[in-house]
Amino acid sequence: MRIRFGDTQAVDGLSFELPAGGAVGIVGESGSGKSATALALLGLHQTASVSGTIEFGGTDLTTLTDREWRRIRGARIAMVFQEPLTALSPFHRIGDQIAEVYRVHTGATRREARRRAVEVLQQVHIPDAALRAESYPHQFSGGMRQRALIAMALVCRPEVIVADEPTTALDVTVQAQILDLLDEVRTTTGAGLLLISHDLGVVAGSTDSVVVMRNGRAVEEGATEQVLVTPRDAYTRELIAAVPHPNPPRIVSAEPLLRLDGVRKHVRLARRRVVKAVDGVTMDVRRGETLGIVGESGTGKTTLARIMVGLVEPSAGRAVFEGADVRRSVQMVFQDPLSSLNPRRTVGESIADPLYLRGVRKPREQVLALLEDLRSTLDLTLVVVSHDLAVLRQIADRVAVLSGGAVVEVGDTADVYEHPRHPYTKELLAAVPVADPVEARRLRALRRSRLA
Ligand SMILES: Nc1ncnc2c1ncn2[C@@H]1O[C@H](COP(=O)(O)OP(=O)(O)O)[C@@H](O)[C@H]1O
Ligand SMILES: [Mg+2]
Repeated sequence: MRIRFGDTQAVDGLSFELPAGGAVGIVGESGSGKSATALALLGLHQTASVSGTIEFGGTDLTTLTDREWRRIRGARIAMVFQEPLTALSPFHRIGDQIAEVYRVHTGATRREARRRAVEVLQQVHIPDAALRAESYPHQFSGGMRQRALIAMALVCRPEVIVADEPTTALDVTVQAQILDLLDEVRTTTGAGLLLISHDLGVVAGSTDSVVVMRNGRAVEEGATEQVLVTPRDAYTRELIAAVPHPNPPRIVSAEPLLRLDGVRKHVRLARRRVVKAVDGVTMDVRRGETLGIVGESGTGKTTLARIMVGLVEPSAGRAVFEGADVRRSVQMVFQDPLSSLNPRRTVGESIADPLYLRGVRKPREQVLALLEDLRSTLDLTLVVVSHDLAVLRQIADRVAVLSGGAVVEVGDTADVYEHPRHPYTKELLAAVPVADPVEARRLRALRRSRLA
């Protein structure tokens, strides 16, 4: 298959096979042609020219008329997109949106379509499916919206599901749940799965074979285990190396630089409701260390970081820096890059220049390397906040696990990762994508046994 946008050859002679009921992964960096490929399989290209053949059940899809496409797209080949908020209409109830897809394709009555919508919502494990079918997308969490999109993809009993970066917008534990769900759906419905991701860790545990794409071509393909364990291509090896892996431990002083002492931040909302964003944290940041703070969205990570730099006044307790209350002695790289950029400098000056000066070719991909480089050359102490345990394992000397505004576990990184004590830490760790397919399957079995 070839896909061309004007002068851009987005896909340049790609060949692969998805067996009935099988799972194929496509991985590659941004711009390598993954999404262009996905759209071609659904006949969704408008401005691009698609050539070559896409054979599906004996028909070449590239020859279909619009009318013929409408009978296949969303019915026999279904798509799960990256960002559920843009794929769902904000103005219609979830159940109605799913029922509508079913009605259009099958001509079922409203009542039948409605029953089928509830059935697929159950199938993707939305609790109280009949009730939740009445909700609007904004009333669902990110993970539930992605489940709803998978339900919508399932509603017409497709033979193929194309999932393009289906977990990129999600927290790591939710990501694992969605990947487990796609795997379960494939087994129970017999639909084939084409799973697309920039992250080899995401496809490792969920596919039988994998195609590694670069600049619109397959640089390597084969059985997932073979490609991941004995990659032939240099670029595949680069992608495998990019899946975060542990660093050897570093010796760090135990001397506290910043001390949090019974810190709380309670925010009062309307009707006497109180959100306990941070709820009693006592912890040291040691001189020269990189401390990782991890936890899912809404557990208070950012509020805690803001207290550490004196941007948020705690409602109780103290943040003490070198013996005195925290003022402006600590700098923070904000979660939202825009908010921490100096408005008088261009984005290029703020981010790209320091990176280029250090000979870094791929700014952004290299933020972690830069932080580590700065820490060692400038003798900094770093606090890195992330929902991504794999990232912290790569950079942090110690990690603090935050849940519901409290630290449930803190310790040396290797210790916490290898011998997690708190159930929440165990849950987070079992959800981290790994590039080793055997380990990925072991972790999935572990997650399943916890649910059972
Ligand atoms: N609608 C479009 N118009 C022009 N060029 C496009 C369009 N969509 C994608 N491209 C180009 O096609 C190439 C592959 O893009 P894409 O398939 O989105 O990559 P990926 O999904 O792997 O990140 C890129 O060079 C991209 O700029
Ligand atoms: Mg893409």
